[in-house]
Amino acid sequence: MTVSIRSRLLLLVLSVLLPAIAAALWVISQTPISAMTPAVQQVALGALLLVVLAVFGSLWMARRISAPMHALKHAAARLQAGEPVARNITGIVECDAVAAALAAAADGLRRSRAELEREVAAAVIRTRESEQRISRSQHIEALGRLTGGVAHEFNNLLGVISNSAYLMQRHATAAEFQAPLAATLRAVDVGSRLTQQLLRLAAQQPVCARPVDLADALHELRDLLQAVMGARTEVTVAVAAGTPRVTVDANELELALTNLSLNARDAMPLGGHLRLQARRAHADEVPDLPAGNFVLITVSDDGLGIDDDAAGRVFEPFFTTKEAGQGTGLSLAQVMGFCVQAGGTARLTSTEGLGTTVSLLLPACEEAPALAAMSPRTPEHSIDGARLLLVEDNDDLAEVTEALLSRLGCEVQRAADPQGALRLIADEPAFDVVLSDIKMPGGMDGLGLARVLRELCPDLPVVLISGYAEQPADHDDFVMLDKPCPPTKLIAALHEAIEGPAAHH
Ligand SMILES: Nc1ncnc2c1ncn2[C@@H]1O[C@H](COP(=O)(O)OP(=O)(O)OP(=O)(O)O)[C@@H](O)[C@H]1O
Ligand SMILES: [Mg+2]
Repeated sequence: MTVSIRSRLLLLVLSVLLPAIAAALWVISQTPISAMTPAVQQVALGALLLVVLAVFGSLWMARRISAPMHALKHAAARLQAGEPVARNITGIVECDAVAAALAAAADGLRRSRAELEREVAAAVIRTRESEQRISRSQHIEALGRLTGGVAHEFNNLLGVISNSAYLMQRHATAAEFQAPLAATLRAVDVGSRLTQQLLRLAAQQPVCARPVDLADALHELRDLLQAVMGARTEVTVAVAAGTPRVTVDANELELALTNLSLNARDAMPLGGHLRLQARRAHADEVPDLPAGNFVLITVSDDGLGIDDDAAGRVFEPFFTTKEAGQGTGLSLAQVMGFCVQAGGTARLTSTEGLGTTVSLLLPACEEAPALAAMSPRTPEHSIDGARLLLVEDNDDLAEVTEALLSRLGCEVQRAADPQGALRLIADEPAFDVVLSDIKMPGGMDGLGLARVLRELCPDLPVVLISGYAEQPADHDDFVMLDKPCPPTKLIAALHEAIEGPAAHH
C-alpha cells in the first residue's frame, strides 16, 4: 500500500495526541456543563486547540518534506532525458546527498555521451578518408598502368629508330646523311629520357635499389636544396635517432626530394622555411599499407598551400595548377611512383595560407641486403665473332637489333620467346652470350629464362634488357640494361658479359 508523507505524519501526530484528547473528552463528558468549573472549561479548550495545532503542524511538516522529494523526482526525470541536473540544497541532509549523487550521475553521463559522439565522428571521418585514399590510389594506379603501357610501346619504337639510325650512321656513304642521322639519334635520346620519366612515374622503370642511410643522405642533400631554395628560405634537416635505413634507388630519392623542394619554392615566392624530417612511422600512420615497419620522410613548407579539391588530385600525372609552360604536373607523380615502387606510398596535406607537407612512407630496411650490381659503362668494345642468341618478341626491334649486332661481327640467332631460346640452345649449345628482353608474353619472361640458363649452362652469360622491368629480387646476378639502350652501352655490356668476370656467376 502506498501512503503519502502527509497522511503518514497526520496519522503519527493523531496517534500520539489521540489518547490525551480522548482522556480530556471523557473527563469533560462526565461533568455536566452547569457543573463545569472554569478549570475544566480551560482543559477542554486547550485540548481542542492542541488538536487544531497538531493537524496544521503535521501538514506544514509534510509539506517541508515532500517539496525536496518532488525536486528529486524532477531531477531524476531530467537525468533520464539526458539534461543537466542542478545540485539543489533542500535543507534535508539525506535529500541533499541523493540530489548530489543525481547531479554527479548526470555530469558523468553527459561527459561519456560527448566522448562517444566524438569517437563516432572521428571513426566516420577516418573511414571516409580511407575510402577516398583507396579510390584515389586506384585511379592513379590505372593512370600509371596506362602511361607505362604507352611508354613501353614507345620505347620499342625508339629502339628500332635508334638502332637503325646507328647502323645507317656507321655505313652511310653520303656525307649529307650524317647530320640528319645525328639529329635522329639526338631526338631518340630526348625521347628515351621522356619515356624513362613516364616509366618512372608509372613505377615501371628499372631501379638500382640499395639500403640508404637517411641521416647521411638528407644531410648531404641539404646544401643542394639550400641552393635550390635561395637565401630567403631556410632549409632544415632533422633525422630522428634510430631511424632505419630504406632500400631505395638513391638517385630517385634525391630526385623526389628535389622535386618536392621545387614545389615548395614555387609555393613560397617570398621565402620561408623548408623542413625535411625523417623518423620511424607509427603504426597508425600507415593504415592502407601492408604490415611491416615503415619510415616517414616529411617535406614541409609554410607556403601558400592548396585547396582540398586540388590536393586530392596532385599525384595524378599531368595535374598542375601552374600556367602553361610553368609546370608539367609530373613531379608529384614521380614522387608517388618512386614510393610505390619501393613498397610504400606518398601523401600530401595542405592548409591554404599556412603550408603544405608531403609525407613519403617507405618500408624500413632492418637488414642490410647485398649491394646492387654495377651497370656496365665502358667505351666501345669489340664483340666481333661472338655467337649471340637474341630473345625478343617484338619483330621489328629484333630485326634491327640483329642487323646491328651482325654488322658488328656477331653471329646472331633469334628466338621470339624463352621456349624457342631453350630449344635453340639444346640444338646448338655453343653460344657465347644470350641477350634477352625481360617482358615477354606467355608463362616465362626473360628473367625466368636467365634463371633456367644459370642452372642448365652456368657458364653462358645472360644480358637482360628492358624498360618495363619490375625490379626482380635477384637482378644483381644478371647484367641489366634499360630500353632503349644506346648501342655503345649495349656493346660494352655484351663485351663485358663475354670477357669480364663481373658478369659471370
Ligand atoms: N608545396 C606545395 N604547395 C602548394 N601546392 C603544391 C605544392 N606541391 C605541389 N602543389 C600543387 O600540386 C600540383 C602538382 O605538382 P607537381 O609537382 O606534380 O607538378 P607542377 O609543380 O605543377 O609541375 P612540374 O611537373 O613542373 O613539377 C602543383 O601544380 C601545385 O598546384
Ligand atoms: Mg612540381
